[in-house]
Amino acid sequence: MPFVKVNGTHTLECASGLNLMTLLVRSGYELNNACGGRGVCGKCKVRIPNTSESEFSKTEKMFLTPEEQRQGIRLACMVRVRQDLEVETLSREKEYAVLAEGHLPEWATEQSKDPAKSGEYGIAADVGTTTVVCRLIHLETGKTADTAASVNDQKKFGLDVLSRISYEQDHPEFGRKELQDAIVGNLNRLIEEMCRRQELSPESIRRIAISGNCTMVHMLLGADAVPLGKAPFLPVLKGAQRCFAGEIGLEPEGAEMYCIPAVSAYIGGDIVAGAYICGLKKLPGNVLFVDIGTNGEIVLAQDGEMNSCSCAAGPALEGMNIQQGMRGETGAIEDVEIRPDGIHLKVIGGGPAEGICGSGILAGINELLRCGVLRKSGAFVHPDRLPEGDERKKYLQVNPEDGTRSVRLQENPVPVNITQKDIRQVQLAKGAIRSGIEILLENNGLDPSMLDEVMIAGQFGSHLPQEDLTGVGILPEEVRERIHYVGNTALTGAVAALLSEGVRREMEALAKEIGYTELGETPEYEYRLAEWLEFPK
Ligand code: FES
Repeated sequence: MPFVKVNGTHTLECASGLNLMTLLVRSGYELNNACGGRGVCGKCKVRIPNTSESEFSKTEKMFLTPEEQRQGIRLACMVRVRQDLEVETLSREKEYAVLAEGHLPEWATEQSKDPAKSGEYGIAADVGTTTVVCRLIHLETGKTADTAASVNDQKKFGLDVLSRISYEQDHPEFGRKELQDAIVGNLNRLIEEMCRRQELSPESIRRIAISGNCTMVHMLLGADAVPLGKAPFLPVLKGAQRCFAGEIGLEPEGAEMYCIPAVSAYIGGDIVAGAYICGLKKLPGNVLFVDIGTNGEIVLAQDGEMNSCSCAAGPALEGMNIQQGMRGETGAIEDVEIRPDGIHLKVIGGGPAEGICGSGILAGINELLRCGVLRKSGAFVHPDRLPEGDERKKYLQVNPEDGTRSVRLQENPVPVNITQKDIRQVQLAKGAIRSGIEILLENNGLDPSMLDEVMIAGQFGSHLPQEDLTGVGILPEEVRERIHYVGNTALTGAVAALLSEGVRREMEALAKEIGYTELGETPEYEYRLAEWLEFPK
């Protein structure tokens, strides 16, 4: 068996032919394996000194610059270990801001006050694909005693749900168990952390309410998630799920557990929670509720009648599939402004940029469109077409080898660019969401000007200013002044469900009432998607 020496200190024994990413992840090393080893994100970089040129795969040559190849940078998921190796890991754990606040109207919790519950607590959890947020709630008063959050421990199996479903499918003997153990362990750790801080016995926790997308709930409960990854996308679990925490390894084992029901495979309990908390059923007029992420989930309410759809936006808006993309963490460019004196960047945590996150790339594109560097079609103008002395020539780059164009946002200490390929990825993502919105509106006899309000929910959307959302065309220009941010309604919905059986019943009824349009089966979807790839200006 070959041996792998990691960072000059630890030596791991490895089954011959095993994928290096799998070995490192299983051994607990931090690795940015965003696509779970499918070779499409280009993020799982490690350094293997003395790699010869012939060892690089086609995929690696596509993602790695010639300079990186010279330095021996490899994509761990592309390396099969067949002989002894020395490896240097390059990822490190970073600060990641988690959205733990959200709209929570008083009416949603007023049924909760129960003096008999003095000294009893509950956990409301938003189990998201990227982050997990828990609130410790006093059941008598409904008040929040503590909050704890972390990046979802399942990230080592890939950053999006499809990567994790693929992992489960590719490892039928242990994949499902590993995924379940990761999220159960994650929740137990957060619960334990809050109990310790509040000096509470875990036994005082009587109830746990979970809000999550359909895949996360399947994985948490140990149900088969593979059918969620292929047509006809049928969930194994239907309706609300109730069990005792101990049945899945959660602590304390006697706590009653409740998972908010989903509408379909891609409109999960997190969206039902949001629709409930935002009162979509009770609001007059035309209201659009949008949760932007790898999947864009959209609910349209017309005087309380609700229809929904889900669009596969892909991970570009979360900074993935972008050449220098990263999540919204320390070192990521989150805002871009182009002024006469040059490009100004806002970087999370201050300091120089290491890459760019989703909000940064949208802000950058909006600015490039405004300054005429980027055309409506998504193509960069050629610097030769600009007049002599034009400031824009300074940051437009043309690769002498293949003629591809890019914009340089930062020169030092590491150059950070937005490439033509990055722009295409964003166009695909925004086109998917916008065409979903347009089809949902059209199917219900509306046009954008007839919308009274647009609610933006979730972690990612909360960072996107109105002008960027409409500027790049994710949302129609007509609604710019009608956009409201409602925060983490998946979490506040879980709080409401935790506190009241009445709310749980209403959510179950709501999940049945929300209609669902499968965009893949809508004949005009492809046409609409092509139409909305263009930027609006
Ligand atoms: S390319 Fe290796 S994990 Fe994505």
